Amino acid sequence: MNILIVGNGGREHALAWKITQSPRADRVFVAPGNAGTDYDGENVDIQATDFPALVKFAKENRVGLTVVGPESPLAAGIVDVFEAERLRIFGPTRAAAELEASKVFCKDLLRHADVPTAEYHSFTDPDEAQKFLNDREDVPVVVKADGLAAGKGVVVCTGRDEALQAVDRLARKKEFGTSGDRLVIEERLDGQEASVLAITDGRTIVTLQPAQDHKAALDGGAGPNTGGMGAYCPAPLVDDEMLHWIEERVLVPTVHAMKRARRPFLGVLYAGLMITSQGPKVLEFNVRFGDPECQPLLMRLKTDLLDVLDAAVDKRLDRIGPLQWDPRPAVCVVMASQGYPGHYAKGQPIRGLVDADALPDVKVFHAGTAMRNGEVVAAGGRVLGVTALGENIAKAKLNAYRAVKCIRWPGAWCRKDISDKAMA
Ligand code: AMP
Ligand code: GLY
Repeated sequence: MNILIVGNGGREHALAWKITQSPRADRVFVAPGNAGTDYDGENVDIQATDFPALVKFAKENRVGLTVVGPESPLAAGIVDVFEAERLRIFGPTRAAAELEASKVFCKDLLRHADVPTAEYHSFTDPDEAQKFLNDREDVPVVVKADGLAAGKGVVVCTGRDEALQAVDRLARKKEFGTSGDRLVIEERLDGQEASVLAITDGRTIVTLQPAQDHKAALDGGAGPNTGGMGAYCPAPLVDDEMLHWIEERVLVPTVHAMKRARRPFLGVLYAGLMITSQGPKVLEFNVRFGDPECQPLLMRLKTDLLDVLDAAVDKRLDRIGPLQWDPRPAVCVVMASQGYPGHYAKGQPIRGLVDADALPDVKVFHAGTAMRNGEVVAAGGRVLGVTALGENIAKAKLNAYRAVKCIRWPGAWCRKDISDKAMA
């Protein structure tokens, strides 16, 4: 079968690398891809949101399954477009992708389904949001723009003044455009975060191993938020008992509630959780694999991923046995360009990739890379996801950083403490 993967980040490289290993995969295309996806698959020069061109390509190249990486094409309805053309595609419809694309929709659904989450209020009028903040006790809150804002539309506030300012920025100044047309103001939760992802066909839920990412730019969790500076799997914070609880109290009721709302959910359901003293609570849902969580997850997955995604599209996930995992943990260290998450330079040639990839139990996933005159160059903020397995978390970390040391380009940097919170 020919496969088309949509996207161009580290997650899509991991998907291409894993799917290529399936004996059932013939050609694996990635649109638009990066230098790494062109190595493990074949790049196609079509943007992830150019649906007519993607449909045409899928038809002309007898693509049997399309797999969508990022949220924006899902929220824009790529699955609806492909299904209308009778093309097989893995991911939620536009209506189901609202679970990530609208925080108000997500919170309302969680409340109805009695899934544990922070107390919240939603607003369409910034005056009312500010009145609400002024009228109540000055407690830590989180102000969130309703729509997609690449993770930046969330402001964690220590007190009222910060929250009033956040309302102003998101809902009046519209720093993230129409995303701020509606707001959620919710109670601030304390604890450690974990990511629990599941593949579902809307009936059966196949839960993946728990993972954790590092969102802050700098060591120890300091600095601005990023797309994720590293990740590891499994997350010891979530033991088997807690994972089971999350399945029963979070994933199952959410999938049922989506069905009742006539938005049956097929795809990856990603629960971003805060593990509080009162147990896990949902911070948000994503409707896709996490990036970089996908990289250590797929490094450990032994089951043929194509079989699983294919079964989900045919709504026969109940016939897929339990997933098989490499018992060894995996750690992914993101190498970034100078300046990221702000403005950064592009175009520097990257050295040492072959040496790093040749190390045992290491895979260098590309994120922001491109080919220029036969050389791999940096072409994004997050450039590489250097991923390694090890007998335990400490050894996986050591293996990943050993590979990082082989790689260099001017201005390259990474956090030095990826996975330390797993060992704390
Ligand atoms: P979200 O996009 O809703 O996951 O928010 C992005 C990040 O903001 C999360 O990963 C948390 O670090 C933080 N966050 C969101 N909601 C809360 C909350 N209620 N309490 C504390 N931190 C939060
Ligand atoms: N790593 C967090 C995300 O993919 O949204």
